[in-house]
Amino acid sequence: MGIRTLAVAAMGVALTLAVHGDAAAAESVKYKVVDESSIPKSLTGKPGDPKKGRALAINRKKGNCLACHVMPIPEQPFHGNIGTDLNGVGSRYSEGELRLRVVDPKVVNPDTIMPAFYKTAGLHRVLKKWQGKTIIGAQDVEDIIAYLKTLK
Ligand code: HEC
Repeated sequence: MGIRTLAVAAMGVALTLAVHGDAAAAESVKYKVVDESSIPKSLTGKPGDPKKGRALAINRKKGNCLACHVMPIPEQPFHGNIGTDLNGVGSRYSEGELRLRVVDPKVVNPDTIMPAFYKTAGLHRVLKKWQGKTIIGAQDVEDIIAYLKTLK
């Protein structure tokens, strides 16, 4: 193997690490809010899975959307009604509008009691161990959006 081939092989390894490294995946994704109404771009670039999103909406330790929202999930007995009925929400909002409402609903309504599920900036007095951490992961957000889009 010549020096040249070696260098090229080493570069290949470095690139693979940069893309697939776990550290990169664990870091929170930067997102851009457009016109204070929408986050048009996917957080991950990977399509969401509506089935997983539905499961997260039920999961009491993750999304827990059912604690505050009525949703078409008949097998779960208790639906909260502090929030809006989410039936038909996929027709009322675009994908980007839904994404902003899950990532950081306080942009739309600063007084809302709905948690910002993926907000990383501007939180006050966060305990050190929670700094830079979000309630759910970036792909979780995309899965939930994919599910909300099915609610026509
Ligand atoms: C602690 C209660 C609470 C939880 C938990 C909660 N929400 Fe909400 N959500 C609200 C309230 C209240 C509103 C009404 C908007 C406002 O307050 O400005 C809302 C509004 C929304 C809206 C906009 C609906 C509309 O018709 O305008 C969407 C979409 C939404 N929530 C999705 C979710 C999803 C998905 C989850 C779970 C990942 C979730 N919410 C968890 C309280 C909650």
